[in-house]
Amino acid sequence: MSELRLCPLSELVEGEPRRIHVTGHTAFCAYLVDGAPYVSDNACTHGSASLGEEGELDGFTIICTWHNGAFDIRTGEVIEGPCYIPLKVYPASIRDGEVWITLDS
Ligand code: FES
Repeated sequence: MSELRLCPLSELVEGEPRRIHVTGHTAFCAYLVDGAPYVSDNACTHGSASLGEEGELDGFTIICTWHNGAFDIRTGEVIEGPCYIPLKVYPASIRDGEVWITLDS
């Protein structure tokens, strides 16, 4: 496991998904809900829409506006099809005003 500094917390806006690119990594999508950061892959598992640009956040649910698929940003679980593959999510934390995530390897 390794940690990755994603972005300053100040870049995130409550309720607004945001695409984050870190050199050498797949694009991430970061969310801020009740002051806590959540992070997933940016690409929808159905048709690769950019959730940070095409997604709408409703509570803890990110809705992909391409075909209205939806995922829980806490778990990646599919809430609404046509998606059926869960969204990859990353444990996120705040340290010194920055958002950090834990990667698998
Ligand atoms: Fe996201 Fe189809 S691309 S639901």
